[in-house]
Amino acid sequence: MIRTRVNEILGVDYPIIQGGMAWVATPKLAAAVSNAGGLGVVGAAAMAPDRLREAIRETKKLTDKPFGVNLIMISPYFQQQLGVVLEEWVPVITLGAGNPTPYIPKLKEQGIRVAPVVSSDSLARMVERAGADLVITEGMECGGHIGDVTTMVLVPKVVDSVSVPVVAAGGIADGRGFLAALALGAEGIQMGTRFVASVECEAHENYKKMILKASIRDAVVTGAKLGHPARVIKNVFAKQVQKLEVEDPMKAEEILVGSLRCAFLEGDTKNGSFMAGQVSGLIDEIKPVKEIIEGVVEEARRLLVNLFARFGGEV
Ligand SMILES: Cc1cc2nc3c(=O)[nH]c(=O)nc-3n(C[C@H](O)[C@H](O)[C@H](O)COP(=O)(O)O)c2cc1C
Repeated sequence: MIRTRVNEILGVDYPIIQGGMAWVATPKLAAAVSNAGGLGVVGAAAMAPDRLREAIRETKKLTDKPFGVNLIMISPYFQQQLGVVLEEWVPVITLGAGNPTPYIPKLKEQGIRVAPVVSSDSLARMVERAGADLVITEGMECGGHIGDVTTMVLVPKVVDSVSVPVVAAGGIADGRGFLAALALGAEGIQMGTRFVASVECEAHENYKKMILKASIRDAVVTGAKLGHPARVIKNVFAKQVQKLEVEDPMKAEEILVGSLRCAFLEGDTKNGSFMAGQVSGLIDEIKPVKEIIEGVVEEARRLLVNLFARFGGEV
């Protein structure tokens, strides 16, 4: 069994976090991940505060294991959502899309574990000083909104910069990625795209099929010229956004509104924005969450044994 400080901090069997994904990370998915021994995370994104309250209560009914809520600071409801998580109390909060340092002390006072998502070593140091329990650092291979440094470079840099545990995200979908992240100094992983293609994920079947069909070059970036780059699976809509963000940025912003919802609920392969990472090109099967998590852990363990068998005597 691979155990790290992340197991203790989050109270989980496996140091594996399911990324808090707008629309996709529902109570059902989060509870399935927590029940399988990882940390499931409900994605609050732009959820209305009352809906978030219901989602937290629903998750508590579906699991008695620790789970988290992901808040993004660009949400129009961010302050109210923060109020809801403090009132309802949740074991873990992950915080993305911005600098969360002002909010960390209040959450910590309530005994909530705080895990900010950072895309640079400088932000990692800032959130550590503010009291973060661990940092999640996300490379640009990931699905959804992206930074500009790859996981391979970002993780060791962040590991060298802070003393709290680091969780690696972006481009990880199997035991090879898990073991590589550990080799880079991370003490856990966060996966998003892999969990979209799970049985328990409530995304439209077409969303999951898009991931299965994608090659490693099919997850492209839209919105870079608008200042909010996001990785999505290439389709007619993605091409249209890429064109409009140069020719008519206002129009591009307009058509982006509701496009993830359209992909998630309607599976509209032409007009939806199917956020997913480059790792889609490694995923070719929809599996139950428990199988995904146990498979990742078992493959990493087996690889580690094989590596020792091959090189152990020589080091
Ligand atoms: C559909 C989708 C929506 C996402 N929404 C959010 C979000 O609301 N907040 C956040 O912090 N990260 C979000 N992410 C990023 C994930 O939490 C996770 O860090 C990322 O997917 C990891 O990279 P991977 O896709 O290569 O596994 C999203 C990712 C996807 C695929």
